[in-house]
Amino acid sequence: MGFSSHANLFFVLFMLCFYVLDVGIATDTITSSQSIKDPETLSSKDGNFTLGFFTPPNSTNHYVGIWWKSQSIVVWVANRDQPLNDSSGIVTFSEDGNLVVMNGQNQVIWSTSVSNTSSNTSAQLSDVGKLELTETTTGKSLWDSFQQPSDTFLPEMKISSNKTGSGVKLTSWKNPSNPSVGSFSVGVVERVKIVEAFIWNETRPYWRSGPWSSGVFTGVEQMNSAYLNSFSVLDGVLYYNLDGLSEFLIYVLNSQGQFEEKRWDDEEKEIQVSWTSKQSDCDAYGVCGSFAICDAHSQGTNGSPICSCLKGFEPRSKEEWDAQNWTSGCFWSTPLQCERAKEQNTSIDTNEDKFLELQMVKVPDFSEWSNADPDTCRSQCLENCSCVAYSHDDGIGCMSWTENLLDIQQLSDRGLPLYVRVAYSTELEHEEGKKTTIIIIVTVIIGIMITVTCACVMWRRNSCHPAKIWYSIKSAMKRGKKDFIRFNVEPLEQTGHKVFEELKELLLFDFERLATATNNFHESNKLGQGGFGPVYKGKLQDGQEIAVKRLSRASGQGLEEFMNEVVVISKLQHRNLVRLLGCCTEGDEKMLLYEYMPNKSLDVFIFDPTKHKVLDWGKRCSIIEGIARGLLYLHRDSRLKIIHRDLKASNILLDEKLNPKISDFGMARIFGGTEDHANTNRIVGTYGYMSPEYAMQGLVSEKSDVFSFGVLLLEIVTGRRNSSFYDDERSLTLLGFVWTQWNQGNILSLIDSEIYDPNDHEDILRLIHIGLLCVQELALERPTMATVISMLNSDVAFLPPPSQPAFVRVQNVLNSESSKESQRVCSVNIISITDIHGR
Ligand SMILES: *[C@@H]1O[C@H](CO)[C@@H](O)[C@H](O)[C@H]1NC(C)=O
Ligand SMILES: *[C@@H]1O[C@H](CO)[C@@H](O)[C@H](O)[C@H]1NC(C)=O
Ligand SMILES: *[C@@H]1O[C@H](CO)[C@@H](O)[C@H](O)[C@H]1NC(C)=O
Ligand SMILES: *[C@@H]1O[C@H](CO)[C@@H](O)[C@H](O)[C@H]1NC(C)=O
Ligand SMILES: *[C@@H]1O[C@H](CO)[C@@H](O)[C@H](O)[C@H]1NC(C)=O
Ligand SMILES: *[C@@H]1O[C@H](CO)[C@@H](O)[C@H](O)[C@H]1NC(C)=O
Ligand SMILES: *[C@@H]1O[C@H](CO)[C@@H](O)[C@H](O)[C@H]1NC(C)=O
Ligand SMILES: *[C@@H]1O[C@H](CO)[C@@H](O)[C@H](O)[C@H]1NC(C)=O
Ligand SMILES: *[C@@H]1O[C@H](CO)[C@@H](O)[C@H](O)[C@H]1NC(C)=O
Ligand SMILES: *[C@@H]1O[C@H](CO)[C@@H](O)[C@H](O)[C@H]1NC(C)=O
Repeated sequence: MGFSSHANLFFVLFMLCFYVLDVGIATDTITSSQSIKDPETLSSKDGNFTLGFFTPPNSTNHYVGIWWKSQSIVVWVANRDQPLNDSSGIVTFSEDGNLVVMNGQNQVIWSTSVSNTSSNTSAQLSDVGKLELTETTTGKSLWDSFQQPSDTFLPEMKISSNKTGSGVKLTSWKNPSNPSVGSFSVGVVERVKIVEAFIWNETRPYWRSGPWSSGVFTGVEQMNSAYLNSFSVLDGVLYYNLDGLSEFLIYVLNSQGQFEEKRWDDEEKEIQVSWTSKQSDCDAYGVCGSFAICDAHSQGTNGSPICSCLKGFEPRSKEEWDAQNWTSGCFWSTPLQCERAKEQNTSIDTNEDKFLELQMVKVPDFSEWSNADPDTCRSQCLENCSCVAYSHDDGIGCMSWTENLLDIQQLSDRGLPLYVRVAYSTELEHEEGKKTTIIIIVTVIIGIMITVTCACVMWRRNSCHPAKIWYSIKSAMKRGKKDFIRFNVEPLEQTGHKVFEELKELLLFDFERLATATNNFHESNKLGQGGFGPVYKGKLQDGQEIAVKRLSRASGQGLEEFMNEVVVISKLQHRNLVRLLGCCTEGDEKMLLYEYMPNKSLDVFIFDPTKHKVLDWGKRCSIIEGIARGLLYLHRDSRLKIIHRDLKASNILLDEKLNPKISDFGMARIFGGTEDHANTNRIVGTYGYMSPEYAMQGLVSEKSDVFSFGVLLLEIVTGRRNSSFYDDERSLTLLGFVWTQWNQGNILSLIDSEIYDPNDHEDILRLIHIGLLCVQELALERPTMATVISMLNSDVAFLPPPSQPAFVRVQNVLNSESSKESQRVCSVNIISITDIHGR
């Protein structure tokens, strides 16, 4: 007995040692004394990436590379131009500490070529697929494979312009059997403030993305994946971050010069191309020559050519043009007034040149940039004879062109407006339509005025001067074209009927099951009462905890529409959104199933005198950033742009690690939010979080969410509720209170003293500053969520000074008695308010 138990103990100790040793040797690292011989490999910690020797299909050569899951998905190659002709290759360290590949004759055929290394180095293959050479003693990174990419853009990589002389580009393979450097490369070019991506064939431009603006390349079409917001551009560097999505999604420049988005299809178990830079013949750089526009959609209908001269222009060479050789382009049919004036040495007469307006185009190459506002941009261009076109965009500023306009393309989504100088006598089509437009505008203005006036009466706002009303109408109209949300329920036809059917299966729960899970919707299981119905906690048979939202019956939607919405919304997946698991529709009942969040909502923490300490400064910062990212995802997902409309502390749920998750994000859609109007008849939301233009005019846009975000941010930083009043004498709202204290430089009084640390002072100031920018009265002045995130990351060095926020003083509207009265006065046919309180 004694002996046997000793033996057992030894065995346990032995196993323990073995275990410890096994863990101690990291398989993702090689040190200077180790090497990898063909066909040995090195794997990343999670096993997703492998470094080793591979042979491309239809080739006998051996290469050292990194691949994902299988050798058919090679993401990086070391010895691209020096293949090994047999399997005698070895990856090891040279004496000076560089990582090298040697052939059977001990010749170095590839090296990391770092000049100062210490001799004690090691190389690690990380979980993102990056091979990194570090100095073992100091841990200093000497080199990594992301600085020397091949043809693949992996998450966490960046492509940079050559501004500082260290541009990083991707280069294509020669062909699928030969990874040596091919003739195509993709990179970014930064001209003053304008950043564009290019594909070059050798040195000639082959494809152009159009300028980057607020989160997208404006000339890129059909890039409708949910992952569009994984790109960001700063200081001429294009970053790629999948940001919480665990999908495998890469961008590859293939040997034909097309940049392809490839994703791993887990069902088909293969990699599939989900987007490519070549959508049509129009994507060939400058195919139509100068002053011509390429429209791929004109081709299909009646076989007409893709290229046409702009209005007021004619081909330089009629014969060539008719033979579909467009390279020489077009020229003005009537000389410009500007030039005639110059020739005749007379002063410019009253018949000035004018501008041809194009909408949704990829603007031409070679623009100049200035910081002018739209009106100045136009007049600057009109006054300068060498200016042939201009365009203004809030995210970029004023662009102008002085040369030939090359590479203009008509797009069906995104794009920018373009104004091209033409002679006064040129007839422009849309002038006929002007009259009706004017009538429509007048009608709209009168409508808005009535609405606003009524809203003013209702809220008894002292500040409702006619001038102010006019101003907000003007800004709303200016904004109209851009910020307008087009609730474009793109049916699931694209993804195919099959998928829809599958999803339907997956999502549908029967009523019985949910009744059992929630103990017959028992009161004790009730988590809260949301604006759209009560929420219950439930437990499925497999033990999974869920939250069930039982929608009130007034959604006014048909079953099919409802299902469409649910399926589309269930496809939105982001780390900072509460996951929709499914739904239930039986008879009158409509229910939504969400993942259950054990930590309840944000308001439970920040406003609680005992719990608020749990959220220290760092945690609050990361919560703010998480909310911003979730919101950006909702705004930028081009397949389905969602305006939340009811962002508030109680709609931010916290998971077990206190990560924020936005909830209720599809509700605006499900509850008849599909009007194709900026004015929505049904105002859902919560007083105090609603932006002025939304509360007063029912105008919804991304910027109304930005306003709510700003309020939320200030609540999180200050730990004070927006609905309380501050400073009795002046009865200030939270916004008013923050604004006055900010102007007095009195930041300390704003911060939750328990969490204040002098080291964070600068960060706190910055956050409050960003919050104030978000709650500015004019929607136009508020930043977009993309800009907010850049600001939060301190990528934007200079923040503009905020102007006075909306709702500085407590209005009568907060007095529920009088608000209800006036609501009745006004709600008959203009606005109806659904007053919703947090659950
Ligand atoms: C390899 O060669 C075969 C036969 O020539 C061809 O069918 C196949 O497409 C080639 N594969 C690649 C990747 O080039
Ligand atoms: C492989 O290449 C080496 C030189 O790099 C050469 O000496 C050797 O003969 C080649 N072997 C074959 C089988 O071609
Ligand atoms: C190389 O070493 C020199 C002197 O130690 C140092 O000044 C220089 O910055 C180093 N270069 C790199 C790339 O580390
Ligand atoms: C390299 O550095 C590691 C960690 O500092 C150390 O354990 C090892 O002995 C060093 N090797 C040599 C050859 O100096
Ligand atoms: C940067 O790239 C542009 C366009 O490819 C090229 O004309 C220029 O010479 C490059 N500049 C440097 C410093 O490499
Ligand atoms: C790339 O340029 C070469 C000439 O340098 C040309 O022969 C080839 O056709 C071009 N490729 C494409 C796809 O245009
Ligand atoms: C990497 O591997 C882990 C575990 O093996 C897996 O959960 C994760 O999804 C993988 N990542 C990708 C991008 O496939
Ligand atoms: C198109 O016209 C240009 C001259 O403008 C000429 O150089 C070129 O060869 C022509 N291309 C074709 C395919 O005819
Ligand atoms: C033309 O304009 C120039 C400069 O504005 C002036 O010096 C010159 O006298 C003018 N010539 C005629 C013929 O008016
Ligand atoms: C007109 O524009 C060109 C190019 O932008 C610029 O060089 C020139 O100074 C401008 N002229 C005037 C009078 O502004």
